[in-house]
Amino acid sequence: MKKSTFLVIGGAGYIGSHLVKALIAQQQQVVIVDNLSAGSASAVLGGELIVHDFDDRDFLDKLFSETEFDGVFHFASQIVVSESVKDPGKYYRANTAATLTLLEAMRDHKVGPLVFSSTAAVYGEPLHTPINEQHPTNPLNPYGRSKLMVEQMLADFDRAYGQKYIALRYFNAAGADPQARIGENHEPETHLIPLALQAISGKRPPLQLFGRDYDTPDGTCIRDYIHVDDLASAHILAINHLINNGKSGIYNLGSNHGYSVSEVIHTAEKVTGQEVPLTYAPRRQGDPASLVADASLAKKVLGWQPEYTSLDQIIQHAWAWEQTRT
Ligand code: UFG
Repeated sequence: MKKSTFLVIGGAGYIGSHLVKALIAQQQQVVIVDNLSAGSASAVLGGELIVHDFDDRDFLDKLFSETEFDGVFHFASQIVVSESVKDPGKYYRANTAATLTLLEAMRDHKVGPLVFSSTAAVYGEPLHTPINEQHPTNPLNPYGRSKLMVEQMLADFDRAYGQKYIALRYFNAAGADPQARIGENHEPETHLIPLALQAISGKRPPLQLFGRDYDTPDGTCIRDYIHVDDLASAHILAINHLINNGKSGIYNLGSNHGYSVSEVIHTAEKVTGQEVPLTYAPRRQGDPASLVADASLAKKVLGWQPEYTSLDQIIQHAWAWEQTRT
């Protein structure tokens, strides 16, 4: 990639920090804007970190007047599905309204293109699996709707103002930097793999397995886990596609393989050599039985080729990262 200057909003968070790492490895100039409400400065392995809310129009006007960006990545968002049901205002404000402020500032300063973090949650309960991008969208909660609304704004801004974008619908982001410098660090943590590993290391209570009565071979939910470094590489391909005059679009990012919660637990036990302390709990509200990506479009159009295709390796990296933490 030619030398460029990129803005990474939410670059101190889990997925954003892995993109920053990848951009820096390619000697790109990187400016990170993150208010550190969920991210951490220590996760930013290079570039210039500006600690600020991204949805402050005066701040964005100044930033865009001072620095010419070749592209923008937008990761910052609220991500806890259950919280979005109880407090939808927070989600529409942080995920949808804040992004509108960003899009308007980008439009007015002619900044672009944009790669946006979307989610498999836009599909809701799947009608078939694997899920390709043509599958109808029917999000089951405000979190998914707050992201889908942004996708709709992006399409409208492209049509009206010619602002180019790619929205990437992540399935289950997992794993960590293979050198264990950065990894998943949510608070609250709601995700299966870190909760299972932290239950093993005694940092958290036993894992609650939510539901064993799903219509799946072993009765537990099936998800598609994709390595966070592979998500990062897809972002770089996406921005290059747009910089090279490729079309705006929406792409799934997943591994095309589904693993059940029980399989994830067994793999965690194999990788760590320890048992996952476990309790059984009823279904968690709003969890679809099975979500598996058809990510062939990203492979075909963007040339994406995930590197870490085994769940063992994903969990090995997550475990190495867990062990670096106090
Ligand atoms: N699970 C448990 N116990 C836990 C946590 C999770 O049994 O303590 C189960 C869930 O029920 C689910 C699976 O593990 O079946 C995966 O759950 P995660 O919370 O790790 O991930 P989700 O699939 O619920 O959510 C992820 C992203 C969301 C996004 C969603 C899209 O974190 O942001 O994928 O499907 F909305």
